[in-house]
Amino acid sequence: MPSQPSAEPDDPLALGIRDGLPEALTALLEVYPRARWAQDPGFAGLVQFWLDRHGMFRKLSGLLTQEARATEAGGMDPAAFAPRLSRFGGMFLQELHGHHMIEDHHYFPVLTRLESKLERGFGLLDADHHALDPWLARLAERANALIAAAGQGGATADPAGRLAEDLATFAPLLDRHLTDEEDLVVPVLLRHRGAGLT
Ligand SMILES: [Fe+2]
Ligand SMILES: [Fe+2]
Repeated sequence: MPSQPSAEPDDPLALGIRDGLPEALTALLEVYPRARWAQDPGFAGLVQFWLDRHGMFRKLSGLLTQEARATEAGGMDPAAFAPRLSRFGGMFLQELHGHHMIEDHHYFPVLTRLESKLERGFGLLDADHHALDPWLARLAERANALIAAAGQGGATADPAGRLAEDLATFAPLLDRHLTDEEDLVVPVLLRHRGAGLT
């Protein structure tokens, strides 16, 4: 089984290959370093809300990975995990998909107009979303398989193990994307005081 649902493009900046934004895209980050974001007058409101969404995605991916592993190992009752997976897994996948759509169709076009030098960066983040999309479909399949097995009283260790394995591969990709996106987007939002976005 491939470790990823789709082949990585032959691009050193592709998600799963790069280890951060290239230097050409970090000039604004030097003016607005991460350590000073929370003290910036433009932080409260949209920036804080948007970073909180990223925090929620990181938290949910960690929680689901941990509980899938516990279920695989027999330390968590599948009958207890299944409804939590349905609720939190459904929330995770739906909210993340909606978040990508808003960024691609609403945020990125506005931010690109404001900072055209960063256009390549927004293209990179858009490409990340396309790289992550097949993962969302695969994680939904894995979750549904486990929920079905638990509902039928069948063995759940294998489906829980497959879900845990995929989540463990997906989580660092998601975190790389979120971190790079924050490094690119937050300085633009701070510089332009929210950029008129809501
Ligand atoms: Fe994103
Ligand atoms: Fe995002």
